[in-house]
Amino acid sequence: MIQTEIKPEDIQVLVADETHERYVDTILQTIEDAAKVRGTGIAKRTHEYVANKMREAKAVIALAPGLEPGSDMRFAGFSYIETWGNKQYVTTSGLIVHPDFRGLGIAKRIKDVTFSLARIRWPHAKIFSLTSGKAVMKMNTQLGYLPVTFDDLTDDEAFWKGCEGCVNINVLRERNRKFCICTAMLFDPEEHLPAKIPQSVLDRINRLEGRITNSQELRD
Ligand SMILES: CC(C)(COP(=O)(O)OP(=O)(O)OC[C@H]1O[C@@H](n2cnc3c(N)ncnc32)[C@H](O)[C@@H]1OP(=O)(O)O)[C@@H](O)C(=O)NCCC(=O)NCCS
Repeated sequence: MIQTEIKPEDIQVLVADETHERYVDTILQTIEDAAKVRGTGIAKRTHEYVANKMREAKAVIALAPGLEPGSDMRFAGFSYIETWGNKQYVTTSGLIVHPDFRGLGIAKRIKDVTFSLARIRWPHAKIFSLTSGKAVMKMNTQLGYLPVTFDDLTDDEAFWKGCEGCVNINVLRERNRKFCICTAMLFDPEEHLPAKIPQSVLDRINRLEGRITNSQELRD
């Protein structure tokens, strides 16, 4: 019913801030319900973790108009970004669109914003995805991610801990993290440059920009 009334242009997709904290419990519940339907597990996050992502401008929220004139906007979708391995890797995580608003291109709009945020904040980081979701694989491909083996992903234990809530964790463990049900995909910013810059030049640039990089990290 609601779906037929809502048009994509009615839905706002924006970088979340502290004013959106009131949606956090609904977001977490929607993620949990979707995982049950899909029969997968999820990297479970706390209210505080998600609220912090909003405060740090690392989350994107989609909001639909309220049902009554003047009523509060309704939660329509969400995702956030996380860094791993000393910010050498980034993931756009927890993508969810509320069932009332699916098929309207909202996930694509959210993914475009999280991807752009990640590229702007950590331009040299590799962006990866570990997913069994067909829609996510399609969007990743459109953004230039390529399929890779698990060896190409971060070895940050904090990332892999997120897999422990998945129904397939035993498969991952038995294969020593080399294979699982999910497909690994990676966007390597260097692969998208027209020329390869030698490592010695990159080291020199890093030294020259050391001061800027450190102050950027303080902001992160
Ligand atoms: C997956 C999900 C985020 C898609 O949200 P959505 O707003 O309906 O997706 P969009 O309308 O933006 O579609 C984006 C693309 O994915 C495709 N797509 C969407 N749902 C799909 C599905 N179930 N199977 C295959 N492709 C799908 C669309 O065709 C579109 O591709 P296009 O740009 O080539 O047309 C939503 O269904 C959801 O929240 N599901 C439960 C949670 C989940 O699976 N999260 C992903 C974790 S890996």
